[in-house]
Amino acid sequence: MGINVLFFGIAVIYFGTVVSALSVPRAPPLPAKKRPHGCDCYTISGPDPGYFQHYKLWDFRAVDLKKHASLNLSEPIDYGDEDWDDDDEGDDQDPQSGHLSPGVHDEKGTDPRSLVFYKTSFERDWSSQNWERRGTPIAPVPMVNSKHNVFLTRDHERTDTYATYLVLRTTRFSEYTSTAEIETRIRNIYRCSVRVRLRVLPAGSVVSEPPQPKEWPPRDPKRHPTVPLNKTIPPLRNGRPPDGACAGIFTYHDQTCESDIEILTRDPAYRVHYANQPDYDFDADREIPGASTIADIPVPWTTWSTHRLDWLSDMSRWYVNNQMQDAKSYRVPNLESMIILNLWSNGGLWTGDMRIGDSIYLGIEYIEMTYNRSSDALRPYVSLSQNHGGHQRPPPTNGSLGNGDPLEPDRNQKHEKCKPGRQGRECRRKKWRNRPLHESCQRPCNIDEL
Ligand SMILES: *[C@@H]1O[C@H](CO)[C@@H](O)[C@H](O)[C@H]1NC(C)=O
Ligand SMILES: *[C@@H]1O[C@H](CO)[C@@H](O)[C@H](O)[C@H]1NC(C)=O
Ligand SMILES: *[C@@H]1O[C@H](CO)[C@@H](O)[C@H](O)[C@H]1NC(C)=O
Ligand SMILES: *[C@@H]1O[C@H](CO)[C@@H](O)[C@H](O)[C@H]1NC(C)=O
Repeated sequence: MGINVLFFGIAVIYFGTVVSALSVPRAPPLPAKKRPHGCDCYTISGPDPGYFQHYKLWDFRAVDLKKHASLNLSEPIDYGDEDWDDDDEGDDQDPQSGHLSPGVHDEKGTDPRSLVFYKTSFERDWSSQNWERRGTPIAPVPMVNSKHNVFLTRDHERTDTYATYLVLRTTRFSEYTSTAEIETRIRNIYRCSVRVRLRVLPAGSVVSEPPQPKEWPPRDPKRHPTVPLNKTIPPLRNGRPPDGACAGIFTYHDQTCESDIEILTRDPAYRVHYANQPDYDFDADREIPGASTIADIPVPWTTWSTHRLDWLSDMSRWYVNNQMQDAKSYRVPNLESMIILNLWSNGGLWTGDMRIGDSIYLGIEYIEMTYNRSSDALRPYVSLSQNHGGHQRPPPTNGSLGNGDPLEPDRNQKHEKCKPGRQGRECRRKKWRNRPLHESCQRPCNIDEL
């Protein structure tokens, strides 16, 4: 049975739930992703276990949509040098505000089937984008990034009715393509290992979607001169997502300091593109040797798999399901960056064009990241040698030891147990700011061996 209703001409285009769940074999619920505990730094598998000072997991697989629907973003979010809060004890499951806020796609009293990202507390860490890019001769289809194209949805393929995942959606309309992008609000990441468990949904997948407002005509029509469109678009292939979109996961400072994973839906499903930018020499009109790789990966990107990008001091490495696929020393980013995930199409040579009316969906189960920030270096590191004499190591950290050591913060704060969720956020921040500083890592956790 299928319901798929399109209303053109009114302000809102509503995509009803496409239903064919009975024909899909159900997978069992997923085990919860393990988070590292009690570590002061994080290491990774591979030739450079390194270490990183921060860790954050955004798990979209069992999100209580109802509880998340209460975000009030009217307060400005300014992270400054503050770190992301990684409270694993149920962050943002604020018991006092389990009500639905206006605008949530839902009948009263039932759980929402989908929820736009910008209404969830994930929007505190990642900002969903809405900006436009006009058509040009080489990218003829205007692109409109819409916050409505980033949403959480129920996973109809899992037996657990509360299973969810994040979706980026792109839809080709006659005048433009509606696209999706999220960016970290923290922009001073300086080296990281980022992992995204994802899947490009095959055509005909079951997706509960929030309504999609029509963004056309654009806010500024002058920016979008009409460009003749190439109507020669290849037909749909069974079970594959339509051609014409690019899914990207990348670190970004600017176009010459960027490290990418890209998936083109026109490619075979086992092909991905890895690059450090710039990878094209426009003056010579040729690809720059060593800048990009076309990799054939062991699992198709139409099945759930974990794509990983390591940005290290002089090497970039790419993995799928923790198997290394590629490594590059060419133009490893050397400036503070943000992380971006997107799904887009502009009718140009790289993405190709989508067929009018088609949508493509990128599902994301979680984003996991261990990272350093450029602001880490600005923190007033106390030299241990000055405080402990010579090269003596500081005494082993033990909660029960406390001896007026100048490195130890106020002991009461250290022992304070912060409340879970939003109520404890300020307390956790205080603890983080006052945490003891060490020049080397005392208690590393390897995030790949949890
Ligand atoms: C992260 O920062 C720590 C402390 O400055 C440093 O020792 C470590 O090498 C950095 N990691 C990377 C991959 O640069
Ligand atoms: C959101 O927060 C602002 C400032 O804290 C407040 O004035 C406003 O009433 C809140 N809106 C809702 C819908 O709760
Ligand atoms: C239109 O698209 C088709 C298929 O992608 C391509 O072969 C053709 O060269 C394009 N025509 C123009 C004028 O760009
Ligand atoms: C840490 O403290 C516990 C008691 O609180 C003690 O049993 C243990 O031996 C101490 N460990 C170290 C390394 O001092």
